[in-house]
Amino acid sequence: MMSTQDLDSPKKAAALKAVEFVRDGMVVGLGTGSTAKHMVIALGEKIRSGMRLRGVPTSKETAVLAQQQGIVLIDADNALVIDVAIDGADQVDPGLNLIKGGGGALLKEKIVAASAKQFIVVVDHTKCVSVLGGSFPLPIEVIPFGWGSTAREIEALTQSRVVLRERNGVPFTTEAGNMIVDVHIARIDQPRNLEIALNQIPGIVETGLFVGRTDLLIVGTANGVESHPATRT
Ligand code: 5RP
Repeated sequence: MMSTQDLDSPKKAAALKAVEFVRDGMVVGLGTGSTAKHMVIALGEKIRSGMRLRGVPTSKETAVLAQQQGIVLIDADNALVIDVAIDGADQVDPGLNLIKGGGGALLKEKIVAASAKQFIVVVDHTKCVSVLGGSFPLPIEVIPFGWGSTAREIEALTQSRVVLRERNGVPFTTEAGNMIVDVHIARIDQPRNLEIALNQIPGIVETGLFVGRTDLLIVGTANGVESHPATRT
């Protein structure tokens, strides 16, 4: 079993590789989480060396770090035109489909990924799986009103246990004021079909399934980084 500390070097290595794709004058989508944090700090170093960048943060946590690093933030209310977005993931399958939302920022993360000309995903090797699901539940952001009914519908569709996410004994609230339910699905063999079916359920704001969005996956391993560009037909 690898410790969190053991995984920090592969995470950092992947983040540093991704930052090589950032050029002067770009608008960068800034992901959330412990891997994305390395990327934000590396961008700060680029700024201190004279590069001009602007950032679109996917969470308040990332916004605070980005500002500490001297990254000028673009108002999220503006129409977003993002050159490259860099973010972590909780699981990645061989088709570069993702489960995201472990940190609860999936809604902004998906909007930013969708608005980016290039979406780069940075992970350590433990996030790569043959099939999504199993070891990591699928986070789904739901409207508080009638969330129990929404959860029941998700349960019926997926035939899986649905658990309301809590923090400190109270329901976790997203930055958009919604709730998150974690769906314990054994395996997601057809992520696109599942995403489409979930999006038919009233009360679901967004799912943590990111299907067909990754342009480049960078995996940090004990022996360096591996890059996997998307192959789209
Ligand atoms: C937050 C996310 C994160 O990208 C995901 O949880 C991975 O985080 P970490 O890099 O800390 O493992 O989706 O909503």
